Amino acid sequence: MSNTLPRFELRNASNSRSQSTDVVAVYQDQQKKATAPKGAYGSSVEKLRKAEAFTAKCGSTQFLRFGGHGGAENAVLLGLGRPQDATEEDFRKAGGALWARLVAERVVHASVDVDVILGVAGLKSEHSEERLVRALAEGFLLPYQDLDEHKTAKKDAYTGPESVEWVCGKAGLRAKLQKELAEAQATAECVRITRAWSNQPSNVGTPEYFAAQAKKLAQKYKLKCRVLTEAECKREKMGLFIGVGQGSVRDARFVIVEYVPARAKKKVCLVGKGITFDSGGISIKPSLKMEDMKHDMTGAATVMGAAILASLWKSSNHVIAIMAFTENMPDGDAIAPGNILTARSGKTVEVINTDAEGRLILADALDYAQDMKPDYLVNIATLTGAVSVALGKQACAVLGNDEALIESVRSAGARNGERIWQLPLWDEYFEDMKSDYADMRNSANDGNGGTIRGAIFLKQFIREGQPWAHLDIAGTAYSIGHLSYIPKKGASGLWVRTLAQLAMDL
Ligand code: BES
Ligand code: ZN
Ligand code: ZN
Repeated sequence: MSNTLPRFELRNASNSRSQSTDVVAVYQDQQKKATAPKGAYGSSVEKLRKAEAFTAKCGSTQFLRFGGHGGAENAVLLGLGRPQDATEEDFRKAGGALWARLVAERVVHASVDVDVILGVAGLKSEHSEERLVRALAEGFLLPYQDLDEHKTAKKDAYTGPESVEWVCGKAGLRAKLQKELAEAQATAECVRITRAWSNQPSNVGTPEYFAAQAKKLAQKYKLKCRVLTEAECKREKMGLFIGVGQGSVRDARFVIVEYVPARAKKKVCLVGKGITFDSGGISIKPSLKMEDMKHDMTGAATVMGAAILASLWKSSNHVIAIMAFTENMPDGDAIAPGNILTARSGKTVEVINTDAEGRLILADALDYAQDMKPDYLVNIATLTGAVSVALGKQACAVLGNDEALIESVRSAGARNGERIWQLPLWDEYFEDMKSDYADMRNSANDGNGGTIRGAIFLKQFIREGQPWAHLDIAGTAYSIGHLSYIPKKGASGLWVRTLAQLAMDL
């Protein structure tokens, strides 16, 4: 990641640096027309309103070149819609749109007048002032991602604004903003880590590579880190995890990263699927878009990002990220359909389809996690193509055995604009997963209820009384085009914020 996040500076008055661009919030009136803000930019907006050139629709922008006031060279008007409609997610989206506009105009220094944003009458009261500004800042920072790591052509030296000044005249609010803006910075930093991992091609992003990266990051952020080699996993009797990696020349790695605060309240285990490449194995996938399967370790990348973020947000819970890294390849040694494997829990599985490998590795990882006796167990995985059939790219699925935990997951998502939809997990679904030769099979081999079947398989490895939730993110891990604050290409980095929030809330 060569491009760095812009520096944030919080001030009580603008430092009016030359060549800076003022960011001016503009709201709409009841008729959805732009209303002139107080201060120097009122008359410019008034003219634009009369000319019907700018409506101030939430997320719309208007650049005023050499139209800045009081030392600023330029200004950008940022539409925020009607104050009574304002939500954090709207502000996050507006932040993403602001970022795109500033980058397009090659702005280096920006100055955001917070007093104008919050000074408007009738802002929706359920969102606190500082949370609205934080959402805007988060939306502004989240789009940053470098996809050029492996390109040789000379890179453009300009990668985005270097600094953003947030001007707030109220001392009390400034103290709150200090914390919120720092948390937004931490958020963007961790989301970038997750995306960078997810985007790594599998010839670089091997299990060994991610284990080494996890160690480095754990050192940097003062977390504990333990790595089990493939041989050690064999000794742990992780027959499913080992089985999946059998066709790969690369050694598997099982990584445990822990954030342990003083006097920890609850223990939260986050388990991530880390298939560094999913070819499907002997049940090989069609070649169209197979390259996207480098992202099949996004669950693992997400729990890593979330554990770091929970530590930066100073969660009072003990957070453990468990990442099972291996590669699913066809080879003479690879597992074949009909093979029967023995899980760490002792149960046997008939492998009907070697492409249903995520559930196999997660079964062993979940079993391992439960030895740590977590209060809450949550796993996240690019598990089934079926989840996009059901929910598209607008939401991920949650399934589990504990309604209270599922509700916590959902509300942690909602607070961060990440939509999570529950699917049922009735035990009757397991009927389809019974095997004639083993305790269960990994696929029912028809197209029905794919996401639920993946989850009901995992449930066979959840012990009595263990609260557990499973997030299927196969539809939302990459190629998200509809959110201004998510890069259009590559990893989305979605769900890092939800899981870190969950680790705070539980
Ligand atoms: N990694 C895939 C799921 C996936 C699909 C992720 C599309 C991202 C985008 C997973 O391992 C898989 O192949 N699942 C199969 C399961 C089936 C064989 C029961 C699927 O969804 O088709
Ligand atoms: Zn697969
Ligand atoms: Zn997979």
